[in-house]
Amino acid sequence: MNHDIVERHVGLLVVLTFVALSFGGLVEIVPLMFQKQTTQPIEGLRPLTALQLEGRDIYMREGCANCHSQMIRALRSETERYGHYSVAGESVYDFPHLWGSKRTGPDLARVGERYSDEWHRAHLYNPRDVVPESNMPAYPWLFERTLDGKHTARKMEVLRKLGVPYTDEDIAGAQEAVAGKPEIDALVAYLQQLGTLLKFQR
Ligand code: HEC
Repeated sequence: MNHDIVERHVGLLVVLTFVALSFGGLVEIVPLMFQKQTTQPIEGLRPLTALQLEGRDIYMREGCANCHSQMIRALRSETERYGHYSVAGESVYDFPHLWGSKRTGPDLARVGERYSDEWHRAHLYNPRDVVPESNMPAYPWLFERTLDGKHTARKMEVLRKLGVPYTDEDIAGAQEAVAGKPEIDALVAYLQQLGTLLKFQR
């Protein structure tokens, strides 16, 4: 009888459907926010240095995440190719995270230390110089533009509010650490630390 009422009123049906779904959401999502496994950093995880942090911003600005994920799934085919699967505790200092889902190029979650700095520089200047069949765009302007570091300290302060353990010293020295450096240095510094903590533990 009651069911009859619900089925005859589309508006009510929609509202009740959402109520039912939201319980599912609560049960699935809310516990994740309190589980240690998803909220605690893995051992040895440190916040990005000022230079790496600027590199991360360049990574976002240039849209690298449109073609590269940073999320290795727990599947044999992925771990054989990229190394240890990604764990949540590696991303707890990432705001926003750059897991992505589009893989025009390879996953970069563990690309740190896989190539030399020189390789990355050559590759970013013109990918075809080192990988002839590559269809990745070239980023020559990263070699011309330099950082002024005006906002680096402020960025770290905001991240600290979100729970990233930057010290007063880190923040005080931030501008000096990046000012005058070419953008390519920052991007390569960022890439070279990606996923290095779990890299060798297959
Ligand atoms: C249009 C898609 C596209 C964009 C945008 C792009 N890439 Fe790539 N990337 C690729 C492809 C395809 C490859 C594989 C061929 C190669 O190595 O060049 C690749 C390879 C790489 C590799 C080597 C990975 C490995 O394991 O061999 C790195 C590092 C990399 N890209 C970094 C970047 C960075 C940093 C940016 C942003 C500045 C970027 N990519 C933007 C498509 C893209």
